Amino acid sequence: MEYILDTACIADIRHCNEFYPISGVTTNPSIIAKENRDFWAILKDIRDVIGPDKILFAQTIRKTADGIVEEAKLLNERAGGEFGVKIPIGEEGLKATMALKKLGIKVLMTAIFTPAQALVAARAGADYVAPYVNRLDNISGSGAEVVAEIVETFALYGLPCKVLAASFKNVEQVARCAAAGCHCVTLSADILKAVISHPMTDAAVAGFDSDWKSVYGEKTILDL
Ligand code: E4P
Repeated sequence: MEYILDTACIADIRHCNEFYPISGVTTNPSIIAKENRDFWAILKDIRDVIGPDKILFAQTIRKTADGIVEEAKLLNERAGGEFGVKIPIGEEGLKATMALKKLGIKVLMTAIFTPAQALVAARAGADYVAPYVNRLDNISGSGAEVVAEIVETFALYGLPCKVLAASFKNVEQVARCAAAGCHCVTLSADILKAVISHPMTDAAVAGFDSDWKSVYGEKTILDL
């Protein structure tokens, strides 16, 4: 399963790109608006941090298929490296996806809440679908079960579309998606940090340190 960072905060992207095996960055209009600065400068700053090979996703704003295609082409031209356009599912979005497929522009069909939506998106040629796990959990659904069903359906029909699960608020949601065979998850920096945190790990490391120091003091292997 690939880890992608779901933010436009450059400090978080810089940190996670250095310390975690991330494959790219996803944004959406809400994430971009939170930064409250020039849109193209945000994309350029993200690209400067992650380099040309990691995938950057940005979402279209226009509502008609033609408008979505034009925005996607411009984003793809200016993204400066590996790029995927995020398009919310809907009739216009599906039409745009079929056109973008012919142009070779990668599409992540977003705002997915059911396996049926995901299957239509995949058939339209989407390279990725983004089911919103926490938003489903919050209405007493099961985000992870929806992810599992999409993964199984794509495998059943031999569809190459990847499931890029989004909207996470805790580590358990991430773990359940991983167990379901989800291809990618996109997470905030805080959730990514929480994924590797465990109090037993902290206790184990503290024990190693104190046992070592009881014999070798402050010396490390390089000092011996
Ligand atoms: C993906 O990029 C989605 O837009 C995002 O993960 C939604 O997350 P939220 O439910 O926390 O807004």
